Amino acid sequence: MSEDARSLAQRAQGMIDALATISADPDKLTRLYLTEQHRAAAQLVGEWMRRAGMTVRMDAAGTMHGVMPAGRAGRSGNRRLLIGSHIDTVVDAGRFDGTFGVIAGILAVEELRRRNVALPFEVEVLAFGDEEGVRFPKTLIGSSTVSGALGDAMLDLTDANGVTIRDALLAFGGDPDALADEAYAPGSVIGYLEVHIEQGPVLEQAGEPLGVVSAIASQGRYRIAIKGEAGHAGTVPMDVRHDALAAAAQVILITEEIALKHQKASCVATVGEIKVSPGASNVIPGLVEFSLDLRAATDEARATAAEAIRYRIRNIGVKRGVLVSIETMHEKPVATCAPHLKKAIADAIGKATGKKARELMSGAGHDGQAMIHLTDIGMIFVRCRAGISHNPLEFVETEDLGTAVEALVGTIESMADSYGANNR
Ligand code: GLV
Ligand code: MN
Ligand code: MN
Repeated sequence: MSEDARSLAQRAQGMIDALATISADPDKLTRLYLTEQHRAAAQLVGEWMRRAGMTVRMDAAGTMHGVMPAGRAGRSGNRRLLIGSHIDTVVDAGRFDGTFGVIAGILAVEELRRRNVALPFEVEVLAFGDEEGVRFPKTLIGSSTVSGALGDAMLDLTDANGVTIRDALLAFGGDPDALADEAYAPGSVIGYLEVHIEQGPVLEQAGEPLGVVSAIASQGRYRIAIKGEAGHAGTVPMDVRHDALAAAAQVILITEEIALKHQKASCVATVGEIKVSPGASNVIPGLVEFSLDLRAATDEARATAAEAIRYRIRNIGVKRGVLVSIETMHEKPVATCAPHLKKAIADAIGKATGKKARELMSGAGHDGQAMIHLTDIGMIFVRCRAGISHNPLEFVETEDLGTAVEALVGTIESMADSYGANNR
């Protein structure tokens, strides 16, 4: 490993550890969108961006932007290369998911300056605040704002305490009425790059520190409500009950069965959140609300699985005499990485690791799913231990962090070469 990569690795690790101390819970890493902890993390990231010589601002959705001006004229004009990831986390998270992508962007800018590389385009690092979609029933708010893919009717969605996105944005110092103005014009950017931990086992099993992402899986998030009839747990006979939780249990098992049926298309179904009302041990559940996250390698497979789930749920509703509703909260088709960015990334990985870069699909969601509405996307994956993520055991070797930043620097340099020669 080169001295440069070693130094980058150590700095990346220090920054990751610093961000990991910013949590709503002293015993766990939890940093949700538009919270006090998000603000503290955004401030720290802003300081790092300034230290790297970037001009910094926070936008209306709470995203931090750091811009490094172009170092030389080129045929890309004043267009920008965007590099980003997210600084929000799931509940009881690992420390690398998202944060490393932001840190890699900042360190790459610092490194390019240190090496006196003059780029023919501006570089902008973005630290998005909502990739996980944990606090509100909406996800990718920061990246959708920048890419102009936000859509309407989301400001009145509420968190578990009834706080709307609108009020949370205002309290954070954002501006719900200015979100549409933040959208970038497609002609103003040349692409979006993201470094992210793999969150799966492929690279580790192959003995490769980095990989190039081919595409991000098709994803849907739904909210299912089952309304039955609350009653006395001791007096209502079993055969006349309309137990909403028993119906939900059957639905959950069916989502598992259908995902297994579409395993070849990497279909996965997860119910990760459930609320039972009224919620007492001696009351038959009258209402159950739960989330369903459904993904697959193709849009067709996800649509077929979603339709099968809807059909089976309706039947359960009729059989059990309960009312079922399914609301779509988020749907994103497969996001395919651009061939020219995959090539630049693969070449840079080859240089940084001495190995031919492996292509792999991302089952996890990323800000690139929103950024693809604006521009071409490319992603570098970094191996993590045993594929564990969304878990405090998430772990990446420090050395791999340095190699990943090297590969990002190499990708940017390769794009600079292309933009010196033509205007893609
Ligand atoms: C985010 O990590 C997601 O894939 O849901
Ligand atoms: Mn992530
Ligand atoms: Mn995540």
